[in-house]
Amino acid sequence: MSSVTVRVPAKVNVQLSVGPLRDDGYHDLVNVFHAVSVFDEVIAKESESISVRVEGESADLVPVDNGNLAIQAARALAKHAGRTYGVELVIRKAIPVAGGMAGGSADAAGTLVACNELWGLGLPREDLMEIAADLGSDVPFSLLGGTAVGTGRGEQLAELPTGGRFHWVFAIADGGLSTARVYAECDRLRAALEEVVAWPQASDALLAALKAGDARALGPELANDLQPAALMLRASLARTLEAGRELGALGAIVSGSGPTCAFLAADEGQARELAVALVGAGVCRTAVPAYGPVAGASIV
Ligand code: C5P
Repeated sequence: MSSVTVRVPAKVNVQLSVGPLRDDGYHDLVNVFHAVSVFDEVIAKESESISVRVEGESADLVPVDNGNLAIQAARALAKHAGRTYGVELVIRKAIPVAGGMAGGSADAAGTLVACNELWGLGLPREDLMEIAADLGSDVPFSLLGGTAVGTGRGEQLAELPTGGRFHWVFAIADGGLSTARVYAECDRLRAALEEVVAWPQASDALLAALKAGDARALGPELANDLQPAALMLRASLARTLEAGRELGALGAIVSGSGPTCAFLAADEGQARELAVALVGAGVCRTAVPAYGPVAGASIV
């Protein structure tokens, strides 16, 4: 095998409940992940050494050195296999960079699946999931896809079957936000407000809406504890969310740590119209209709 191509989806958090700060610098979460049809492609080609090239929108913002999560994924997999391997990775980006849609995690998950195949390792998914959890909190979900409830720092996953397809619009902003910075701002705001931080709990109403495939019931249940912090760091997102609500979205939320905003639509037609209207209103750089759930990292 000289080349393997893997397609890997973005995610939106339909519920992101952030618990108290832990001693290891992470937060315990209830993180309800939902994989959506915005895909990066990871192409792995035979090579003597490990390298990465990034193509597509905002590709210049992605590091190509050891800071690249895909490089770290290839190294971690080779180490797990106990051998020295090489790979030339080409990443074709459609997921916004530093956008709160787990683009870096997607590329790491795609790399694990692609290199497992390219190198003929035949490692089972459970092994890839373990390596994924060490790479980042969202990487296991990028492997799994679908809809799932994440606990711990988000890496412990329980699959959640959904009763149908949900239609979304993702309003993509100029520039990104650092996940670590948004969590730190969340802690700062909570301390300033002297908030008592409760242990995170999954919302029964949200889980029921997902199970039933009921977009109208899901809309008002969308919840993201990182949203106030993202709005503090990027005040313009309040206007983006408001515009989506006024244009008839069933729900409007910052995606993960932002700055992408996610809008739930009643159907595919409304999602298309909403995307055009959001761009027309001048509240985002671009808007992408998509649906979920979709499968995790898969060889194409
Ligand atoms: O796990 P990952 O490297 O993707 O996390 C990036 C940053 O997000 C962490 O360094 C931490 O600041 C924050 N984070 C957190 N609690 C989590 C997940 C991430 O505080 N459960």
